[in-house]
Amino acid sequence: MKILVFGSLNIDLTFGVDHIVRPGETISSGSLMKSAGGKGANQAAALAKAGMPVYMAGKIGQDGRFLLSLLESYGVNTRHVFMYEGETGQAIIQLDKNSQNSIVLFGGGNAAITRDEIDRVLAEFTTGDLIVLQNEIVHARQIMETAKKQGLKICLNPSPYDEKIEALPLELADILFVNEIEGAALGGACGTFPGAKPHKLPASLELTSPLSKVLDKLTGRFPKAEILLTAGKDGAYYGCGEVREKGEIVDMPVVDTTGAGDTFTGYFLAARYRGLPVAEALNVACKAASIAVSRKGAMEAMPFAQEVFA
Ligand code: RIB
Repeated sequence: MKILVFGSLNIDLTFGVDHIVRPGETISSGSLMKSAGGKGANQAAALAKAGMPVYMAGKIGQDGRFLLSLLESYGVNTRHVFMYEGETGQAIIQLDKNSQNSIVLFGGGNAAITRDEIDRVLAEFTTGDLIVLQNEIVHARQIMETAKKQGLKICLNPSPYDEKIEALPLELADILFVNEIEGAALGGACGTFPGAKPHKLPASLELTSPLSKVLDKLTGRFPKAEILLTAGKDGAYYGCGEVREKGEIVDMPVVDTTGAGDTFTGYFLAARYRGLPVAEALNVACKAASIAVSRKGAMEAMPFAQEVFA
C-alpha cells in the first residue's frame, strides 16, 4: 500500500501583525517569517513525520527548491513533484496577536499542473493505494475520477472551501476531513445558507446547529464515507454511518494555528494505518495538532512520531 499526496506546495510568508488588516487600511508588521507550506506539502510532511512512507506530487518553480529539501529531510519521496519555469505557489499569512490568521493564496505551480502530468503520476499507483487531496491545485475532478477508476482510496480535505468544491465528485471520497465551517457548508447545516449556495459563506458564520448535527448531516449526505470534523479547542469528531467518536485536544499555549488541520489529517491517517482504533487515532491526531499550534510555522511546527505516539 502506497500513500500519495497530490497537492499544493507553497512558500508561506507570515507577517506578525497587531490585527488582521481591514479594507483600506495599511499596517506595519513586526515580524516576517518565510517558511514551507501548502496544504498538500504540509499533509505529506505530517504523514512522514508520523512515520509513514509517503509520495508527494505537485509542481514548483526554482524558488521552491528548499521545499523539496525540507520534505525529503522528513522522508517524503518527492520524485512526483514537477519543476517549471514560473513561480512556486505562495501564501501571504497575517498572524495577529491573538494567534488568529488570515491567508491570501497565489496559485503559482499549483495552478500549472497539467492533465498529462496527472495521468503520468497516477499511472504509478494502483488498487489499495491511498491518495490524499485538498483544494489548492487544479484538475481535482480528473485526479479523483482517475484515482477511483484505478482502485485508489480517496481522502479529501475540501479546503479552502469555495465554489469549486461542490463541482467535484464528492461522492467518490472515502474519507473526508473538514473543519466546522467546511462541515457546515458541505452538510448544509449552516443557518444563513441552508445548502443553496454554501460556498458564499459570510466571514462571521454562526452555526445554527451543534457539531453533532453537522456530523449527522455529513454522514447523511456521504453515507459511505468516514467523516472527520475538526473543531479547534473542542477537539475532533468522527462519524461513519451510525458510528460516532470524539477526540480531545491537549491543553497547550496557542502560538500559530497555521497547518493545525494538516497535522491532524496526517496523524489521523498514520495512526489508523498503524492499526489504532478510531477513538485512539482521534486523540493522537488532536495531540499532534495541539503540539503544532504551540510552535510557529506549518510543517516545521509539526511534531515527530516519538513526541506523539505513547
Ligand atoms: O493549511 C495551512 C496552509 O494553507 C499554509 O501552509 C498555506 O500555504 C496555505 O496553503
